[in-house]
Amino acid sequence: MSSRSHRLGAVTENLAAATHRKDTAPGLFVCFEGGDGAGKSTQVRLLTESLRQRGREVVVTRQPGGTPLGAQIRELVLHGDHVSARAEALLFAADKAHHVDQLIKPALAAGQVVITDRYVDSSITYQGAGRELGADEITALQHWAVGGLLPDLTVVLDVSPEVGRERRGHVHDRLESEADAFHAAVRRGYLELASQDPERYLVLDASQTVERLHAAVVDGVDRVMAARR
Ligand code: TYD
Repeated sequence: MSSRSHRLGAVTENLAAATHRKDTAPGLFVCFEGGDGAGKSTQVRLLTESLRQRGREVVVTRQPGGTPLGAQIRELVLHGDHVSARAEALLFAADKAHHVDQLIKPALAAGQVVITDRYVDSSITYQGAGRELGADEITALQHWAVGGLLPDLTVVLDVSPEVGRERRGHVHDRLESEADAFHAAVRRGYLELASQDPERYLVLDASQTVERLHAAVVDGVDRVMAARR
């Protein structure tokens, strides 16, 4: 690709992102990321409860999954037979494209809070860093799939491969059964993404107690809500 078409690509992507921010501005988009066994689902549940107690309408979702088509894709990529690396990346991207269109964008446009368990960064780290497909290409693919719509806040629950493995207990899907080296690359991927954009990321040590983590998450979300007023 020439540098001119690269630049045009970047401009188009920025325009798409700006358009979506306008459409979806009334809502708040929060994402939880982290290695397997980081405790995301517990923190998703606690944040949902606390925001609902404060009167916010919250839509909780997860990726892959979250829509009927997404549930089918989830079965294929996580519980099916071997999927080649590029096909895996495309299936995860297809899940997100459909999900954003059908569920996330309409909810944000209606002023709701959307909390998602995993989003584009899971692919950048698992397919990009873990599968070594190259973070840049996976980032471009993912941003195209979601039309440039990014979370207002991404909470990364940082967990070492060893602790993650211990917490998962028995293996239950294709990605979770990867070796520690894969999970270490995923972890490095998250920390790098967060360091590139500290405003939009909150990195928390997932070995803290559930209560302390929850308090830190609420603080982070409050900060983003205050900044948007
Ligand atoms: P998750 O729903 O967290 O698994 P569980 O319900 O078993 O806790 O995530 C499913 C797996 O899919 C996880 O190992 C990460 C992986 N994944 C990707 O590799 N790429 C992606 O884009 C997404 C969303 C998930």
